[in-house]
Amino acid sequence: MFKDIGYNEYSSEMMKQLEKGAFLTVKSEDKLNTMTIGWGTLGFIWKKPIFMAVVRYSRHTYDILEKSKEFTVSVPLTRDMKKELAICGTKSGRDIDKFKECNLTTIKGKSIDTPIIEECELHYECKVVYQQAMEPGLIDKGIREANYSNNDFHIMYYGEIVESYIKE
Ligand SMILES: Cc1cc2nc3c(=O)[nH]c(=O)nc-3n(C[C@H](O)[C@H](O)[C@H](O)COP(=O)(O)O)c2cc1C
Repeated sequence: MFKDIGYNEYSSEMMKQLEKGAFLTVKSEDKLNTMTIGWGTLGFIWKKPIFMAVVRYSRHTYDILEKSKEFTVSVPLTRDMKKELAICGTKSGRDIDKFKECNLTTIKGKSIDTPIIEECELHYECKVVYQQAMEPGLIDKGIREANYSNNDFHIMYYGEIVESYIKE
């Protein structure tokens, strides 16, 4: 049902969709959540394939990620998931069960505890190997004013991609 792929095999498809939204899923013990992400990078650092996701302190996802130190990224390529991405990008898992609300199905990760979202085609399983808090004094002034006037900065999570696969 899923075929293993090289981490960068679908990079241009992934980046095209990321700007519109993908699902970042996290799980720690009995807490499971997903949120829409629109920013991130795919790259190669420390001789490892890396997905870097940026998550603000205010997110419920942040609380879980701080415990689990792993995440999955599920990317819809053909299916129209605008509605689900809009809900998962505006509602918090603190208040609702987004999986129930959006009828999203989870499938157990291959190498990590965090599941993927079945309705999407492209998936990455990632283990956090580095994280970085933003240094307010080092951000470009324009970017800071446009994005961080409330001081709700992003944490950058560098996840080693331990599995990448696509629906056949
Ligand atoms: C298209 C889109 C892209 C988004 N990208 C990000 C992102 O990259 N990082 C982030 O922290 N929040 C991002 N958000 C906002 C979160 O998805 C949103 O605040 C969500 O409700 C957080 O859910 P949570 O509290 O359950 O973690 C995005 C929202 C949308 C609609």
